[in-house]
Amino acid sequence: MIKVLTKTVVRSLCVMSLALVAVNSYAADQIVYDRYNKTCILCHASGVAGAPQFGDVDQWAPRLEKGMGALVTSVDEGLNSMPPKGMCFECSAEDFKALIEYMAAGE
Ligand code: HEC
Repeated sequence: MIKVLTKTVVRSLCVMSLALVAVNSYAADQIVYDRYNKTCILCHASGVAGAPQFGDVDQWAPRLEKGMGALVTSVDEGLNSMPPKGMCFECSAEDFKALIEYMAAGE
């Protein structure tokens, strides 16, 4: 009886934690979209002043070759016409990484 009960409890805990993981990544994605829509989009949607365009794999490829660390630094410090932090002042390095991945992939 106890064994069966333990199995059931363990199983439902597993299901619950899977659900939590799903909710968490959904929330994180939502934050990335919101931040993109408030800041990066201003230039990266249409490619203002030579900004690599959202979802344009060819424009992003040479940028990605620099490595994620270098790209995050470019955003943090600004690069030519891109202002420091890409105007997202509450963004962390992790957020920039997520935003870059989102823009480079276009999804
Ligand atoms: C005011 C316009 C503007 C905004 C806002 C902006 N960018 Fe940019 N971004 C640019 C321009 C212009 C370039 C191209 C700079 C160059 O290579 O001369 C660029 C280039 C980049 C690059 C490539 C850097 C490199 O080293 O090649 C990344 C990564 C990037 N932006 C990320 C972001 C992110 C993330 C955001 C939002 C948090 C953002 N940008 C917001 C204008 C902008």
